[in-house]
Amino acid sequence: MTIELSNVRFHYPERPKRWVLNIPSWSLSAGEKVFVHGPSGGGKSTLLNLLSGLMPASEGSVTILGQRLEQMNSRQRDRFRANNIGYVFQQFNLIPYLNALDNIRLARQFASRKKAGANDNEIKALLSALNLSEKDWRLPARNLSIGQQQRVAIARALINKPQILIADEPTSSLDQANRDVFMSLLMSVIAENNMSLLLVSHDLSLSGYFNRVDDLKEINHIEGLA
Ligand SMILES: Nc1ncnc2c1ncn2[C@@H]1O[C@H](COP(=O)(O)OP(=O)(O)OP(=O)(O)O)[C@@H](O)[C@H]1O
Ligand SMILES: [Mg+2]
Repeated sequence: MTIELSNVRFHYPERPKRWVLNIPSWSLSAGEKVFVHGPSGGGKSTLLNLLSGLMPASEGSVTILGQRLEQMNSRQRDRFRANNIGYVFQQFNLIPYLNALDNIRLARQFASRKKAGANDNEIKALLSALNLSEKDWRLPARNLSIGQQQRVAIARALINKPQILIADEPTSSLDQANRDVFMSLLMSVIAENNMSLLLVSHDLSLSGYFNRVDDLKEINHIEGLA
């Protein structure tokens, strides 16, 4: 199993009585493309942060590629994420004053030495494959268009050849035409690299791209929890 949650509960530390997540059981198998949808404030980003080890679950176990995140310290989780999970953040989270190449080099440095061996040629090949033209590689990220920033964010998520790609509302700022371009690009990257995909969004019209569509409400049972 690629991702497995068991009796996971989560509340933010400063709000101990307010459960955001209560997930008795949920999993994703290797090679699956899963779409989890739910309304704003429903806990989608929180869920992705737990799965990627950015925040520990309050209770329960999160197992990724056979490894239990709660048995790792935060440094180990960071390293594990860098090696195994590509994360395309909702707002991309690029470092605005660094150019595309440097944003991606930074991600590479967080991976283990073996993977960090990926050289600049690999970064350039990836950016080319994602159709970011060479003249834009050295512009600060803040001077790139939204569509270009997206490509850099995907390249950054892929540079360490993760087995899992997770994406948080990556299409929310795009019009219909660009949304379709983005989703097609994402799907071809997933297929070429044999990755598992978990994407969260409130936009149900994305459903057609996935082999499985889950409603967060059905997974997350927070009603009546004290
Ligand atoms: N850092 C935080 N501290 C305290 N509460 C938070 C924090 N981040 C999110 N929350 C709360 O947790 C709940 C879930 O938020 P989350 O961001 O996971 O929702 P979401 O489904 O991603 O929403 P959106 O679709 O708007 O991105 C919300 O009630 C939110 O107020
Ligand atoms: Mg969110």
